[in-house]
Amino acid sequence: MKNARLSLDSARVVGSVDDRLFGSFLEHLGRAVYTGIHEPGHPAADAQGFRKDVLALVRELGVPVVRYPGGNFVSGYDWRDGIGPVEKRPRRLEQAWTSVEPNRVGIDEFADWCRKAGTAPMLAVNLGTLGPDEARQEVEYCNHPGGTAWSDLRRANGHPDPHGVKLWCLGNEMDGPWQIGHKTAEEYGRIACETAKTMKWADPSIELVACGSSGRGMATFPDWERIVLEHTYEHVDYISLHTYYGNPKGDVGAFLAESVGMERFIREVGAACDFVKAKKRGTKDVKLSFDEWNVWFHSGEQDRKLERWQEAPPLLEDVYDMTDALVVGTMLNALLRNADRVKVACLAQLVNVIAPIMTRAGGPSWRQTTFWPFALASRYGRGTSLGLALDGPTYDATNHADVPWLDVSAVRDDATGAVSVFAVNRSLDEGIELALDLRGLALADGTPIERTELRSDDLSAVNDEAHPDRVAPATLPSERLDGGRATVRLAPASWNLLRIGGTGEKG
Ligand code: AHR
Repeated sequence: MKNARLSLDSARVVGSVDDRLFGSFLEHLGRAVYTGIHEPGHPAADAQGFRKDVLALVRELGVPVVRYPGGNFVSGYDWRDGIGPVEKRPRRLEQAWTSVEPNRVGIDEFADWCRKAGTAPMLAVNLGTLGPDEARQEVEYCNHPGGTAWSDLRRANGHPDPHGVKLWCLGNEMDGPWQIGHKTAEEYGRIACETAKTMKWADPSIELVACGSSGRGMATFPDWERIVLEHTYEHVDYISLHTYYGNPKGDVGAFLAESVGMERFIREVGAACDFVKAKKRGTKDVKLSFDEWNVWFHSGEQDRKLERWQEAPPLLEDVYDMTDALVVGTMLNALLRNADRVKVACLAQLVNVIAPIMTRAGGPSWRQTTFWPFALASRYGRGTSLGLALDGPTYDATNHADVPWLDVSAVRDDATGAVSVFAVNRSLDEGIELALDLRGLALADGTPIERTELRSDDLSAVNDEAHPDRVAPATLPSERLDGGRATVRLAPASWNLLRIGGTGEKG
């Protein structure tokens, strides 16, 4: 048994957690849209063809914002293909994922789906093959009330009220050579600046995300951020970060340590923002939008065998195991610990494509292992992120040194005063006895510490259609505060939620 100590104090805060930290991402890729959220003729489909079983799982997951329609897809996408009568919409060769795009779902349907799912759209504009003109028209179509050509077209297409899209991405991963219309930082910075200006002139209330690096390992990082922000600082509100982790060689210690790199990436991009702010003698802090993050590696081999130019091929259908759920838990902790700077984050993606929710065409839907840490963090991780005084043993992994065996974040619910501690024990074979010193939270003696645990004896355990609940959270016996202190034992290779001072279920 290892030992660790955690002390929390309500006066020691990181910052407020923006609800949009629990966003997700839906791309026209594989079966995310077609047979994912949209499957007319499915027994659970509503009148518009949206699967109600999937809508219920999305609501349960708790995603306040969903980025759409890509991803790499958006860099070759013309949003005008996806509006108007469905039977008149073109079928296109979609080059990002070498598929056929039928355009049965577009911006209007997505806006309707968002309302049904209880979420808000975050739209990316195409800065690969299109530019400022199409982007400003898209804002006019979505957000202008009426009386102009584009807004009246939306009304004629059955949407009298504006979609009110607040958050927009200026392209996607424009630093990547794989991107349709890939650009240098100078080229992208210029077009992003001009696009941002004209989009905000169409609707000054919108917020804009400039493309940062598509990964910390890109050769152009962090000069990319500096140059892009030198061009766009005055006109954008966020810069994006993307990160995916995999474990192809089976080095679990390193895989579980990857979030250390994620946190460094956040600090480094924050530093680039601050550098440009200082250089410009600016007053505004550019915030971070971590709008693609997840585990992604299981599906690589099977995807290479897929035929090109299919409609909704089963691409990127990673089946996640218990280890992946632990990594997702540590990535969520990294986001929460940096909630002062990261204001938007999107788990990539939402349905079927590297997703917490899976469906079978014509069949059921189910929750992957990774659904659980996300859903519980989204449910109990809203409020104020607390600073941690954490003391415990560390290990040297092959990718990072001094990795804490115990990975923690803590959030205070400002309405109730309840505190949620999210804790991952990275050790595969030893439990951790965690001594909690919560005197700084001023909670009454006897306050319960409700416990939820996600673990499995088999780290390779997965949920699938036949066993949808093989990996699911369990409620453990509660502890109680005594003189502001308590001790809890965290099982090896476990994700844990400690709810301190909660009043049971949250509405
Ligand atoms: O999420 C899958 C892909 O990963 C996205 O399309 C792209 O932006 C990233 O490289």
